[in-house]
Amino acid sequence: MRLDRFVCKSTEYTKAEAIQLIHDGQLRVNGEAIMNRAVQVHENNTITLNGECLKARGFRYLLMHKALGTICSNVDEGYPSLFNSLKIEKVSELHVAGRLDADTTGLVLITDDGRWTFDIIRPSNNCQKVYRVGLSRRLSEDLIERFEKGLQLHGASQLTRPAELQILGSTEARLTITEGKYHQVKRMFAAVGNRVLSLHREKIGEIALDVPLGEWRYLTNDEVKSFVTVI
Ligand code: URA
Repeated sequence: MRLDRFVCKSTEYTKAEAIQLIHDGQLRVNGEAIMNRAVQVHENNTITLNGECLKARGFRYLLMHKALGTICSNVDEGYPSLFNSLKIEKVSELHVAGRLDADTTGLVLITDDGRWTFDIIRPSNNCQKVYRVGLSRRLSEDLIERFEKGLQLHGASQLTRPAELQILGSTEARLTITEGKYHQVKRMFAAVGNRVLSLHREKIGEIALDVPLGEWRYLTNDEVKSFVTVI
């Protein structure tokens, strides 16, 4: 990781403060003063700040039950950010692994581990995301096969990957997909002439939503490990 990020992850300094400390020559990597904040460092390196050895904190992994009318970015943009309700240290270092729209509710995974996020969102890992969907028009049985075969989304060059559609009622369904293109579920139903009225994510991989609306918890070690590459 970059030296400025390492300083943030091992101290209470903000990014701006870390950059200033590096610029002022107060950081040493394996005994050598380093003033370039972009230098890559590893935990095996001995990194000192004014002679004191730094140790990076571990990554953090959480799940949250996202409320309607909140957004997954770190700052408010038209709607309040879901991070506002996360009263923990250094919230600005966290991101959502697989964002939901403002009008979608349900399970979001939150972390500061970019590699882990990559494992969750890249389609080749076949990580299943399960959504409960409310629709404006009646659903017909033939849709099950059309979703399984792949749909042509507006503006997309390839068909969608096989998806499992379970019809729960005349206008209610459960959809399991293994990719997460922009507005994926809404665009899939638009491709078959329907419109999503409500959308709720129930599950990602093996992790099911189990906290009340607006609340969160840390993931267990087994849950974190459950996303490690399955190639
Ligand atoms: N698909 C959508 O269309 N919206 C979401 O929020 C998630 C998946």
